[in-house]
Amino acid sequence: MHASLLHPCYTSAYMDYQNPKITEVAKLLKDRFAELQNKADILKAIELKALYGEIRTLPPTERGNFGLEVNALRNELQGLIDSHATKAEALPPLDVTAPFDINVPAEKRPNLLPSQNGSQHPLMTELSVVVDIFARMGFAAVESHEIDDDYHMFGSLNFPEGHPARDDYDTFMTTQTDKLGKPLIAPAHTSTMQNRVLKAGKDKLEQGEPIAAVIPGRVFRNEDLDARHEHTFYQFEGVYVGKGIHAGNLIATLKTFLQEYYGKDLEVKTQPFYFPFTEPSFELALSCPFCDKKGCNVCSYSGWIELLGCGMIHPNVLKEAGIDPNEYTGFAWGCGLDRLVLMKYGIEDIRHFESSKLDFLRQFT
Ligand code: DAH
Repeated sequence: MHASLLHPCYTSAYMDYQNPKITEVAKLLKDRFAELQNKADILKAIELKALYGEIRTLPPTERGNFGLEVNALRNELQGLIDSHATKAEALPPLDVTAPFDINVPAEKRPNLLPSQNGSQHPLMTELSVVVDIFARMGFAAVESHEIDDDYHMFGSLNFPEGHPARDDYDTFMTTQTDKLGKPLIAPAHTSTMQNRVLKAGKDKLEQGEPIAAVIPGRVFRNEDLDARHEHTFYQFEGVYVGKGIHAGNLIATLKTFLQEYYGKDLEVKTQPFYFPFTEPSFELALSCPFCDKKGCNVCSYSGWIELLGCGMIHPNVLKEAGIDPNEYTGFAWGCGLDRLVLMKYGIEDIRHFESSKLDFLRQFT
């Protein structure tokens, strides 16, 4: 059979070439093909190029046949590449959730699921629960920004330029700047939204309605990491402004929320604190939902858990949003979602949330 008469895809590993030189190169290249990582490289073989180069040097009567055979060899090699690719395609699919540690006993390895069986992250599930409870209390939900400017992070919140309290919120800046030439910021808290929510709600106040918003968002901190501290986490801010609003309303709102969230009666207590954007400012603690104040390792045997910062919105913050602090007062808080969820499920390490560990996440599906 003449090699060029048959398409190489239909041939077996052995094609006959009349020219002994081509036969020799064909054998050499087929052996090399078996070893090659990148199979397509066989077409770049120097021996094949040399055969093409040789065509010009032959007497005109031999050129035709030699050229046909060199082309047939090239086609045969291309056929090998094509059939190799088809075989590779037919291999069984790999589970993208691998690899697991081969030394871990089979029953302790994560269940390998097809990648399309994803599920909601537990923090997002719990965030819906939180937002739904506040919706039942009349709070609208507004999402916070993941990148913000100096004005919303500091200026609008009564942190004057150079104020030492800015250091407590020392966070991540970008090299990109805002209109005033100040770096953009990955915010350390959701309080960055207060000014926006207050400005947007001014009309409501004038119509005799309160401003009531819950503002979830992702926040970023320059933290030393441990089981209780993570650089990236979620907060939900609360803002409520109206006529005659006082700290009793703040405490009642948060206590009602926490009891609903944990599904049981709880006590709350406040202790004085300092935030530039509230006056007075408090830290709110709740009785440990695990041990009911008897003392356990969740509450470090104190019976109480310090949960969140809150206070009465500072008059300067209201003024900055165009609201008259002599007419209206309000309260605000900022609560870490991760911590709340840790306690609900007895999770021992906050870092699990951002870890993408499947065996952790699948407990919540
Ligand atoms: N933004 C504060 C923090 O992350 C928490 C906070 C305290 C928020 C008091 C408030 C507030 O709205 O009134 O540390």
